[in-house]
Amino acid sequence: MIRSKIRGIGHAVPDRVVTNADLEKLMETTDEWIVERSGIKERHHVDSDTSASDLGVEAARNALEMAKVKPEDVELIIFCTISSDYFFPGSAVQIQEKMGMKNIGAFDLRAACSGFVYGLSVADQFVRTGAHKTVLLIGAEVQSVALTFDTEHRDMAVLFGDGAGAAVLQPSDDESGVLSTHLHSDGKHLQDLWLPAPGSKYRPFMSKKLIDDGLHTPFMNGREVFRNAVTRFPEVIQEALDHNSLSMEDVALIIPHQANLRISQAVAKRIGVGMDKVYSNVQKLGNTTAASIPIAMSEALSEGKFGSGDNIILAAFGAGFTWGSAAIRW
Ligand code: UT7
Repeated sequence: MIRSKIRGIGHAVPDRVVTNADLEKLMETTDEWIVERSGIKERHHVDSDTSASDLGVEAARNALEMAKVKPEDVELIIFCTISSDYFFPGSAVQIQEKMGMKNIGAFDLRAACSGFVYGLSVADQFVRTGAHKTVLLIGAEVQSVALTFDTEHRDMAVLFGDGAGAAVLQPSDDESGVLSTHLHSDGKHLQDLWLPAPGSKYRPFMSKKLIDDGLHTPFMNGREVFRNAVTRFPEVIQEALDHNSLSMEDVALIIPHQANLRISQAVAKRIGVGMDKVYSNVQKLGNTTAASIPIAMSEALSEGKFGSGDNIILAAFGAGFTWGSAAIRW
């Protein structure tokens, strides 16, 4: 069966840099605490009028340019996010409209930090089956607007950043392309990383009471997330290797979801590779949820960390819990 291939990859981050020193002014935290626990030194936050679809458009333009594909030639848009511009409809339709694309299919995919790997798996199926020749896959997040920058919420507030990454998938004409994807979930961990409201669980689905109870802000059981992440990342990386009869020596680069440098270091140790094989840009961007993997791919490619014919492995873990991996021959 024909493989799907990423022909273009691009990213966009907002201009405004928020350093740890900036956060020290808003809450009881220190640069030392943040760097030691997460590796993060700075992140980018949007200004007041920029939304996830705005960042998505910019990333998509860059990906389309690299792929040499015109917006009107895109046949399907998959927009991976948990911070869409509106509660409904999803932001994919805004990409269609803002970029002047035809009346093609467009939908959002909400798999949190695993969003891009889940989205890649879906896009891959459409291309492999021949249903679509050009799929635009976007991961875009504006998380900063959901965070509360005070001492009570400092565990979350210091970790997340805004950004977008995009990929253009088309059929491959050789052995390169997406080799495999593997997706997993365990919903018993729903409340270990979640934003409870608004939602259909409540009557009414949004109210002053929900806000007064603080349910409109995200909550994280950091230790449980950490404990599961350092187990699930190695498992799913190994699954990708085994499925394709590859060993770690055959892989040029592992691109994990950029959650936290300490998680990536623990994963590298468990799978027995040095950090030179595990890409990391969380130090300057923080955790950008569904955008982190395509941004990292885009940066790693432009830095020459992988190239034509190289095997790379994407691996993700996040809220749900969800996790997954993709093996790609570039
Ligand atoms: O895509 C997945 C996204 N999530 C993650 O990647 C998070 C995974 N989890 C982690 O990386 C870590 O659990 C954290 C970095 C979130 C926290 O590190 P920890 O070593 O697990 O710290 P902790 O939660 O056990 O908290 C230790 C202390 C607490 O104070 P007390 O109760 O010991 O007095 C917290 O209140 O650190 C305090 N704390 C902070 N202190 C300064 C929590 N956040 C901060 C902060 N600055 N930003």
